[in-house]
Amino acid sequence: MTEIRQVVHELLEQLGSSKEARQYLKEFSSASQARFAVVKVGGGILRDHLDELTSALAFLHRLGLIPVVLHGAGPQLDKALADADIETQRCDGLRVTTKAVMSVARPLIYRENLSLVEGLEARGVRARSIQHGVFLCSHLDTQRLGLVGQVEQVELHAVESAVRSGAVPVLTCLGESSSGQVLNINADVATRELVWTLRPHKVIFLSPTGGLLDRQGRVISAVSLSNDYATLMQQPWVHSGMRLKLQQINEMLQRLPDKTSVSITSASQLTRELFTYRGAGTLVRKGEAIEVFHNPDANTLGRVRKLVEESFARSLQDDWFKHLDDPLVLLSETGRAAAVIVRGVDGLPYLDKFSVTSEAQGEGLGAAMWQVIKARFPAFYWRSRNTNPITPWYFQQADSSNRSDLWVVFTSGIEDAPQRERCLVSALSRDSGWTPA
Ligand code: ARG
Repeated sequence: MTEIRQVVHELLEQLGSSKEARQYLKEFSSASQARFAVVKVGGGILRDHLDELTSALAFLHRLGLIPVVLHGAGPQLDKALADADIETQRCDGLRVTTKAVMSVARPLIYRENLSLVEGLEARGVRARSIQHGVFLCSHLDTQRLGLVGQVEQVELHAVESAVRSGAVPVLTCLGESSSGQVLNINADVATRELVWTLRPHKVIFLSPTGGLLDRQGRVISAVSLSNDYATLMQQPWVHSGMRLKLQQINEMLQRLPDKTSVSITSASQLTRELFTYRGAGTLVRKGEAIEVFHNPDANTLGRVRKLVEESFARSLQDDWFKHLDDPLVLLSETGRAAAVIVRGVDGLPYLDKFSVTSEAQGEGLGAAMWQVIKARFPAFYWRSRNTNPITPWYFQQADSSNRSDLWVVFTSGIEDAPQRERCLVSALSRDSGWTPA
C-alpha cells in the first residue's frame, strides 16, 4: 500500500495536477483487473523505443494497473526476410505467409516477444510471455495468403491467469488452427479480435508518430466518430494508412460500449495521455450526440444550469432563463457540454453561455459542440473574460476580436464592420444572468 502511495506521488509530480491523475487512476482501477487496457505495440517500437515502453508499462504496473500487451514485429520481419532473400508480398494489406516466410517469422516473433518480457522483468515487473493458445484460427485464404489466420475464437484463459497472478501478459500475433498449424495474424486484426472479446476500458495503440496527424503533421488531439468521422474520411490529406486506421478503429468501437476509448500515442507520452484531461496523443471515441432544444423542459434546463454554474463557479438567478430572448439550448448527451444562444443585436445570434467540463474538452466534445454551433449559425458573436482559460481558444475560432479591460468580444462570420461595432456594444452591455458575487 505504501508502495502504491509512493508511486502515486511520483505520478503526481510528473504530471502536475493531482485532481486529474487521481480521477483517472480511480476510473481505470474500477474496471475489472484484466479489463483496464489492451496495448498494441508496433514492431518499430520494440526495435527503437523498448526502454521508454518498458518504463511506461512498469509505471502502470506499479500503480496496480495491468495492461494486456500485444505486439507485432513487422519491420524486423521485413528486414529478416530481405536478409534471407525472401521476397515480401502483400495482398489486401496482409503479408502473404508462405512456409518459407513462416520459418523466418516464427522464431523472430518469439525473440521479439521475449525481448519485451525480459525488458519488463529487468525493471522488476512480472511479465508472462503468451505465444500460443489465444487466437484459434482457420485459414483465411490458403491459395492467396498461405499461412494467414482468420480468428475464429479468442481464448482468454492464459491472459486472465497472468493478470490474476500480477503478471503483464505479452501476446504475439500468432494463432493456430485446430490441428495445431501456426498461423500469422495481422497485428491490427488480432488487436481488434482481442478487444472485442476482452472488452477493455481503453485500447491503446503505440506508434512512433504519437497519434493521428493533421494536414500540417500535427497530432490531432481528439476524434469523435459521430461528429468527425465522415468529414475526416473525405479530407484529401488523410492518407491511406490513416484512413485504414480510422476505419478499423471505427469498426472496432461500434461493437463496444460507448465509454470505451482508443488512444493513439507514443511510448514516452503514454502516462501523460492516460492521466491528464488533455492527454498527449489522439483520443478516439464514439462521441456523443448533441441535442438542440427550442423549448427545453425543466430537466434539460436543470442540467444546463448545473453545468454552467459548476464551470463558472457562480450561481445563476432563479429566473435567468425566462429573461432570454428566443433562446436555443444545445446539450450533449452526458450533459458535459452545453451552449445557450439568444437573439442579439440586429437579430444576430449571441452565444450567451458555452460550458464544457475539462474532461469532456480532452475528449474533443467542446470542439464538436462548436462545429454544431457554426453549422447552425453562419454568423454570431460572443464575449469572454480576459482571465477565462478558454479565451485563447476563442481567438482561434473567431474571425474578429476586440479586447477591453475585462472582456474580449468575438465575432464569427460577420463581415460588415459597422455591424461588428454594434455587436461589440451589445456584448459589453449584456447581463449574463449571474447572481451578484
Ligand atoms: N486521460 C484520458 C484518457 O486517457 C483523456 C485523454 C485525452 N487525450 C487526448 N488525446 N485528447 O482517457
